[in-house]
Amino acid sequence: MKFHLKVWRQKDSHSEGTLEDYTAENIPADASFLEMLDIVNNSLTGKDVPPIQFDSDCREGICGSCSLTINGVPHGPGRGTTCQLYMRNFRDGDTITIEPFRADAFPVQRDVVVDRSAFDRIIQAGGYISERSGSAPDANSVPISKTIADKAMDAAACIGCGACAAACPNGSAMLFVSAKVTHLGLLPQGKPEADRRVLGMVRQMDKEGFGNCSNYYACEAVCPAGVPAAFIGRMNREFTAASMKEMAGMTV
Ligand code: FES
Repeated sequence: MKFHLKVWRQKDSHSEGTLEDYTAENIPADASFLEMLDIVNNSLTGKDVPPIQFDSDCREGICGSCSLTINGVPHGPGRGTTCQLYMRNFRDGDTITIEPFRADAFPVQRDVVVDRSAFDRIIQAGGYISERSGSAPDANSVPISKTIADKAMDAAACIGCGACAAACPNGSAMLFVSAKVTHLGLLPQGKPEADRRVLGMVRQMDKEGFGNCSNYYACEAVCPAGVPAAFIGRMNREFTAASMKEMAGMTV
């Protein structure tokens, strides 16, 4: 297969970027999008052109490192990560535009690589359980209803890729934060720190410059893990309750 690529090239975080044209030739239909870029980079290196810098790690849809906006959509067409997108989803001869994830809180580092450490700082603000968890307990030793377990599992599916914030016109990270708050807050192990967690994570999210949710649902549409936007409403309720406890001087 052959494709015409328009790729965002940017020397570093201080330089201006621009879309540059490349041709991807002899691409197998079963190559993944990242493998297609590997092939293009091999040919660029042979011509003494700096290869296109992009992020990847697992290439299995698990780590959330790959972060390309393809034809204007984070992770491109379909419902998966960039590394799980295959070239057979495009037509031979297509023009494909490749840009970084766009959000103020994700500054471009180089080409299509963005700095998503804002997400790490949000996790550091409360996205964990500080109680010693010890070794794995026997199955069913902590009774949790199937409804709660399923919901917590849906939230835990978030891989922190940042597509939600990149797709949102407000640059909101509320789907990501609500997934982490819900995943931990629903389970007995996470409940003791739930108030502190939601206050810390939401405040850090605001500090990082992410916008607010105004119900576009673009986040839900592009989330490769299928995290539902309903978790945002749940997080807002948890945040309001924790704020009121804090204002009333109750320990959170
Ligand atoms: S490289 Fe890990 S999810 Fe794509």
